Amino acid sequence: MNKRRNFIKKSILGSVGATSLINCNNSNSEINNNDTAVYPRIISTWNHGVPANKEAWKYLIEGRTGISAIEAGVKIPEADPKIRSVGFGGYPDREGIVTLDACIMDKHNNCGSVSFLQNIKHPISVARLVMEETPHVMLSGKGALDFAVSKGFKKENLLTEASKLDWINWKKQSNYQPVINLENHDTISMLLIDDNTDLFGACTTSGAAWKMHGRVGDSPIIGAGLFLDNDIGAAAATGLGEAVIRTSGSAMVVELMRQGYTPLAACKEIVERISKIHKSGPVWDYLQVGFIAINKKGEYAGYSLRKGFNYAICDSSNQNLLLDAEYAI
Ligand code: GLY
Repeated sequence: MNKRRNFIKKSILGSVGATSLINCNNSNSEINNNDTAVYPRIISTWNHGVPANKEAWKYLIEGRTGISAIEAGVKIPEADPKIRSVGFGGYPDREGIVTLDACIMDKHNNCGSVSFLQNIKHPISVARLVMEETPHVMLSGKGALDFAVSKGFKKENLLTEASKLDWINWKKQSNYQPVINLENHDTISMLLIDDNTDLFGACTTSGAAWKMHGRVGDSPIIGAGLFLDNDIGAAAATGLGEAVIRTSGSAMVVELMRQGYTPLAACKEIVERISKIHKSGPVWDYLQVGFIAINKKGEYAGYSLRKGFNYAICDSSNQNLLLDAEYAI
């Protein structure tokens, strides 16, 4: 109980000092859409960020580590078969196979990642073990699966009847055209600043529906789908992974924050870069990308190319806040 009281006290103190922390002295800075800097704070992509944040928050108030909190948080959408863009029940590739990508990163720049992982419901937990128990950052495909099984993960069928039916219907036309803001969710990306202002991040997805077999998106790629620098801030992406990889999106958002950009200005700049690169290209008609970012003060933002991206916030005064991101076009 004492631990919990201290935790809440720190949150409130964080918000008292907030106004003086906003506005970096850089001409590129913009005021965030949040006007207080508070920590601990959790920010996650899309509607499914709300239950994910709630779970991560529960872990924080129990005194668990930031890394355990984000892992637990994103496991909620991973296990939910109604969410067709993450984990169990995710849309399969064009061969009818569900393949998952995930990564996780901590305050010491330790990171772990799995890509093209099949038959394991919680790729984020495998990514965490890659980080903690191997000399590597990334395991892929069969190697990632063998590693997971060696650590006691159960092999399961991840293709639900609903996703299988959709895949059978899709095959009638076989037209690969990613859907913008797929059912109001996509990758779950989560960023967390704890009560010591240490940063943690996670990102997990089943990737683009009907992708080519073997396709890997931005989500397991450190620097693209997720990046953090514990001195500066953290950023994560959602949307068309190829576009995010082309710009090293999340790493660039963090680098701009290092230069003094606010989270909002940094996300906006990278979305504009992506827009410029793709404007007259073949993916423009279905291109959506969005970023979330949080800086060392707990100031946050979300920004996307097109309307419809939202993100969830959880802190001591908001447990279920869902915000519409600003957007470019
Ligand atoms: N952002 C998820 C993907 O493109 O796979």
